Amino acid sequence: FMKKLIIANWKMHMSLDDAFEFCTKLTEQQYNNQLIIAPPIPYLAYLSDKFKSLEFCGQNVSQFAGQGSCTGEYSSLLLKLSKINYSIVGHSERRNLFQESSELIRQKAENCLKAQVTPIICIGEDLATRKNNNYKNFLLKQLEESLPEVGSLIVAYEPIWAIGTGIIPRKEELIEIFEVLNYYLKQSQVANNISLVYGGSVNLDNIEKILNLQNIDGVMVGKSSLDYQMLVQMLSYK
Ligand code: 13P
Repeated sequence: FMKKLIIANWKMHMSLDDAFEFCTKLTEQQYNNQLIIAPPIPYLAYLSDKFKSLEFCGQNVSQFAGQGSCTGEYSSLLLKLSKINYSIVGHSERRNLFQESSELIRQKAENCLKAQVTPIICIGEDLATRKNNNYKNFLLKQLEESLPEVGSLIVAYEPIWAIGTGIIPRKEELIEIFEVLNYYLKQSQVANNISLVYGGSVNLDNIEKILNLQNIDGVMVGKSSLDYQMLVQMLSYK
């Protein structure tokens, strides 16, 4: 039995008190899978200090490395100094709302690796691209442009049309895409230790089916991860 990765992306939700209570309950629970929580950024260092048995994650990092005069930003080094070992980079909400390019995301991912923070690099096509038969080439290009030269990392495939919509790709489509991504990553010299996860409308009805597919090491969950009972159930699936 392989532990699966469940990444809870809380985005810009919850109060600090709610997050604290949620994490307190989580520490009282036994579960099978590996949990990484990406809480709102202002709570990150506090939660990671209070809950040493839980693993936390940034939702973004600066493209600027190290420390310096850079008001409002936080680097991968500052995450590491707060004992945070992971960060999401290039979520589609960053790509779309903040016009982040794949080149910029690669820079961020490289900075993460330099600080020994594992980047969770997101890729995913929009609906118009999906309808075009070429979408697999689009994905591979996005992946190639976003990946750092070498390093251990996580790639999250999150089709934009599946985020927050309740719609997920069909099983055969997921199998095919993850095979393509896995093949690409295996034969490229880019990274050595890579996990592949799926994100977009993961819920209690579909998680088991997704986790059972080949080449999928876990899921990244938005809305359903805000519900304590649902998250705990997801953590117990085999
Ligand atoms: P939902 O699970 O709410 O569709 O969000 C997915 C996502 O963006 C995770 O990063």
